[in-house]
Amino acid sequence: MTLTHLLVIFVVTFINPLIFNTVSSDIIQPITAQRGQSVQLSVQKQPKTAFDDLEWLKDKCDVVVSYNVKNKSEHIYPSYKERVVFNTGNYSLTLKNIQEKDSGLYSARASGESDFDIGLYNVTVGASSHGSTTESVSLIWIFLFLLGAMMI
Ligand SMILES: *[C@@H]1O[C@H](CO)[C@@H](O)[C@H](O)[C@H]1NC(C)=O
Ligand SMILES: *[C@@H]1O[C@H](CO)[C@@H](O)[C@H](O)[C@H]1NC(C)=O
Ligand SMILES: *[C@@H]1O[C@H](CO)[C@@H](O)[C@H](O)[C@H]1NC(C)=O
Repeated sequence: MTLTHLLVIFVVTFINPLIFNTVSSDIIQPITAQRGQSVQLSVQKQPKTAFDDLEWLKDKCDVVVSYNVKNKSEHIYPSYKERVVFNTGNYSLTLKNIQEKDSGLYSARASGESDFDIGLYNVTVGASSHGSTTESVSLIWIFLFLLGAMMI
């Protein structure tokens, strides 16, 4: 194997994910909860400019709550009534008595002249710890395989 080959493998396996991560600036925070628990999602970063509305969305399209900063009015959507608490002071969203169907991607979006995500969570409800152990074991095998490939 030539040096160029090695370089290509190195770039693909190590540098590429790094570049990819910096390009997609939104880091998804994983949260695992058991059924019946309360989960608090807080805003992870400050919006860059002033904003008029703040929304928490599920899976990017389903609105959970919308809050208007100017008239300080909050609107919790019917399917989430009695199940979520929105804090108007720090914009955190609490999901009460969480169920399996509440699993999904939750994002906080501030909108004014432009929109930006200020919180991003991947909530998994009722996941068994067994699954994640198998996952990390296979990740170790992939890593060993790549290491082996580089040494040839
Ligand atoms: C937001 O405010 C609520 C109520 O005061 C508090 O329980 C919670 O810890 C706060 N969250 C953060 C991230 O500061
Ligand atoms: C607050 O502003 C929003 C967006 O402009 C509007 O939809 C809502 O009706 C207003 N609420 C009140 C109570 O004025
Ligand atoms: C969220 O987490 C689950 C379980 O770990 C995973 O299968 C899924 O791909 C994740 N989704 C996103 C958008 O990261």
